[in-house]
Amino acid sequence: MALVTMNEVLKESIEGRYAVGAFDTLDCVATDAILKAAEMRNTPIIVMLVDAEPGQEEFIRYTLDRCSRSSVPVALHLDHGPSYEAVMKGIHAGCTSVMFDGSSLTFEDNVEITREVVKVAHACGVTVEAEIGHVAGHEGNMLEGNVADASAYTTVDDAVRFYEETKVDCLAIAIGTVHGVYKGVPKLDYDRLQAIRDELPIPLVMHGGSGLSPADFKNAIAHGINKINFYTGMTLGAGEAVRKVMNEEKRVTMTKIVQVGSKVITDIVGEHIEIFGTKPLTK
Ligand code: 13P
Repeated sequence: MALVTMNEVLKESIEGRYAVGAFDTLDCVATDAILKAAEMRNTPIIVMLVDAEPGQEEFIRYTLDRCSRSSVPVALHLDHGPSYEAVMKGIHAGCTSVMFDGSSLTFEDNVEITREVVKVAHACGVTVEAEIGHVAGHEGNMLEGNVADASAYTTVDDAVRFYEETKVDCLAIAIGTVHGVYKGVPKLDYDRLQAIRDELPIPLVMHGGSGLSPADFKNAIAHGINKINFYTGMTLGAGEAVRKVMNEEKRVTMTKIVQVGSKVITDIVGEHIEIFGTKPLTK
């Protein structure tokens, strides 16, 4: 198998009523651990880079190579590209999919830059995700605890107009999730999600997967979500496991730390692939 676009990974997800997990990696160990979970289940997966800025070359080279040697289809996606330039760097680095996140801009500016991104990305055979409405918490307070802001939820009208004006491949929407740790119990607006699903022909993306229950995920998927972004739960889970080993064992080696953290990432990603109902390959 090889690197494929996100369109390829998600192409049957609307009809099949399932989601594909998209997991952020910030290091080579995480890249490998995430891919292993999909390979063990023979399912497609989306691996996400948080940026493609200078200084990341070695890590990106490893991730690209590891993804292309995977036994399952993998989309390598740039998560939350904050500008046209940042997204271009993602395409140049070899991502098969990019997100331009203009969710803090005005509707018009978001449309204008997304359109330019779509033009270039499609010419390069790269899939584009954008966001309308705003999912809170990506601005640096991921571990402090966040509450969703209902005034920033995506409206059906905005989602339809945004899609028609940009022809983006998939759309991230705000329906009650937050990035990072939740303050209180998450409450998702499934009616709003269903109304958007009923109007749009493209895969819908939910950011802020960590902290949701299996029932939340299943309901979100039943009402139209096809890609689920997940990061905090995976990295905190690995950190906790490493802390436990360090507390329990007198001498801990670096190798043991890497093995323990990596196994937890593979387990958490695998558990979520199963909850998301990602369809295994038939051959
Ligand atoms: P969590 O860290 O809350 O899982 O969110 C990840 C995300 O949405 C990345 O785009």
